[in-house]
Amino acid sequence: MSLEKQSAARAAVEEVKEGMLVGLGTGSTAAYAISFLGEKVRNGLNITAIPTSEASKQQAEAEGILLTDFEHTIRIDLCIDGADEIDSELNMIKGGGGALLREKIVAASAKRYLIIIDSSKQVETLGAFPLPVEVIPFGWQVVLGKLEGMNARPELRKSGGQPFVTDEGNYIIDCSFKSILEPAQLETDLNRIPGVVENGLFTGMCDRMIMGMGDQIFSKERR
Ligand code: A5P
Repeated sequence: MSLEKQSAARAAVEEVKEGMLVGLGTGSTAAYAISFLGEKVRNGLNITAIPTSEASKQQAEAEGILLTDFEHTIRIDLCIDGADEIDSELNMIKGGGGALLREKIVAASAKRYLIIIDSSKQVETLGAFPLPVEVIPFGWQVVLGKLEGMNARPELRKSGGQPFVTDEGNYIIDCSFKSILEPAQLETDLNRIPGVVENGLFTGMCDRMIMGMGDQIFSKERR
């Protein structure tokens, strides 16, 4: 799988051109893209970037990529990120790494949103991968109760026996819907629960998917 991730990442960084402002995703596939971008920067490419997590920020700094933030600009040219699941309409589940909130904000400010995956991420119907829902710590139990009522089999994400805390200081509740037939509707419904900050359904956002499959690359543009 790591070769598939690498080839998708290599193809994606080909879209990065001189002077662009680039959104840097989070996760193992996005990490390959950050590393290949670092190579290009060291070979003379001038870009500025906004990372979607503290982990990606640290990696980008180590690669020598110039970073900025939304105090200076709100229009990203191209955002490159991974996904946990993607369907044929290019709707996705993201947030397995817990970075979904910053990822969605950065993606929403991008003119073009590129998703890079290995072949295991392509699915017919979203939902086998537990859907992460980011909630503020206050009253998370109330949100969990509401999610139980939606048949989500919700579970508070833990790390070392303690609640996992996101870069924004929130908790994650992972939801096993098993099969999500109306992802756009569910994305909206979840965000209407008081205490939910964002959820990992990204519908109607991806412009191009690049997938590594064996030694080949497949690409699909949004219709
Ligand atoms: C991070 O929160 C996620 O949205 C990642 O983009 C997603 O989990 C993909 O990660 P991998 O590239 O490591 O599979």
